[in-house]
Amino acid sequence: MSARSLEGRHIVLGITGGIAAYKSVYLLRLLVKRGAEVQVVMTPSAKEFITPVTLSSLSGKPVVSEFFTANTGEWHSHVDLGLWADLMVVAPATASTLGKMAHGIADNMLVTTYLSAKEHVMVAPAMDLDMFRSPSTARNLSLLAGDGVEIIEPGSGELASGLTGKGRMAEPEEIVERVERFFSKSGSLAGKRILITAGPTFENIDPVRFIGNYSSGKMGFALADAAASRGAEVALVTGPVSLRELHPAVRRIDVVSARDMLARCLEEFPGCDCAILAAAVADYAPAVVADRKIKREKEEEMVVRLVRNPDIAATLGSMKESRTLVGFALETDNERENALSKMERKNLDMIVLNSLRDPEAGFMKDTNKIDIISRDGQTCSFPAKSKRMVAEDILDAVFPPERGQMMMRR
Ligand code: CTP
Repeated sequence: MSARSLEGRHIVLGITGGIAAYKSVYLLRLLVKRGAEVQVVMTPSAKEFITPVTLSSLSGKPVVSEFFTANTGEWHSHVDLGLWADLMVVAPATASTLGKMAHGIADNMLVTTYLSAKEHVMVAPAMDLDMFRSPSTARNLSLLAGDGVEIIEPGSGELASGLTGKGRMAEPEEIVERVERFFSKSGSLAGKRILITAGPTFENIDPVRFIGNYSSGKMGFALADAAASRGAEVALVTGPVSLRELHPAVRRIDVVSARDMLARCLEEFPGCDCAILAAAVADYAPAVVADRKIKREKEEEMVVRLVRNPDIAATLGSMKESRTLVGFALETDNERENALSKMERKNLDMIVLNSLRDPEAGFMKDTNKIDIISRDGQTCSFPAKSKRMVAEDILDAVFPPERGQMMMRR
């Protein structure tokens, strides 16, 4: 990266009240040195740890902390700040702020700015190991990850409490690297149109019942958000999920059944450069959908006859021409053989393999552990990562970065 790799970038640096706040002074220094324009937003308790004067001297801008400046009555607009920022980084992020962000508790300038942020948000948690391990923090981080927030994992080591464990804020250099990586990628897919499928499909039996599966849609949504953050125009065709997409460049198309999904994919695919099919599509659907609720009968058994659904991947594969087609394979056994045969059968260029035998992979998880296999059989295996970071790896494989910026970390 060049010395001025962040020239002209607008970054909101949110600082919360934890001892790691002292590291944020150095983080700010590094960001400014690389050319970023940084607006610091502090929570009131952060000021107990470092002074606004130190931060405003380094950033060249008054620190924002309150909704109003007490003596002048000037109002600080979190909405304007949210619009101004190309990126918001909250470092350190305490358990309390993570909880407020996850639940939209907008009782200070930092959280209101987060709620108004239009672009990407990263958080670097920092707290004592027990707080980091607590179910509540884990739940809040998982909610934030689901909302598309990038979590910069804390490191392990000696903590301010004297205890040793996980909870130490990532080092400023690592945070800057993540920031640089974000900007080096943003815009790299400008002009590309990408179709992504996500979630399960529901196949109706009658007006109140359906056949479905456990897919949460998290992987497809993470892909959509990551691709849009890199500048792509994304059509996200999703089955029923309780997620929301983040990025304004994601066009969400809600469908219910495999047949609906195929119909919408056929409309979108011709205008796309690439399709990534992360949906868990039901292979079969009831042959007849009852138009009234089926009543319980006296018999002990009931038979629902199923008929084969269309294979969306294979259909798109048969018409793909120069478009890139990427599929997923979630397997329980003979993983590689099954994945290779799917890639062949569906005419995919690449297949992302995850095994249900891996505890970090699978339905409803926030993490995934994947192998990416390309048509020539080359395989890249990755360690377990958040689904957002897995999405970045998949995009790097589909759209390899320029040489010298290779980001595929095996
Ligand atoms: N897929 C699809 N349409 C289907 C079934 C699967 O588009 N009717 C896509 C999935 O989105 C995924 C890939 O094909 O990208 C593999 O899905 P999977 O369910 O593993 O494949 P199947 O061919 O259904 O194989 P299996 O017998 O393992 O269910």
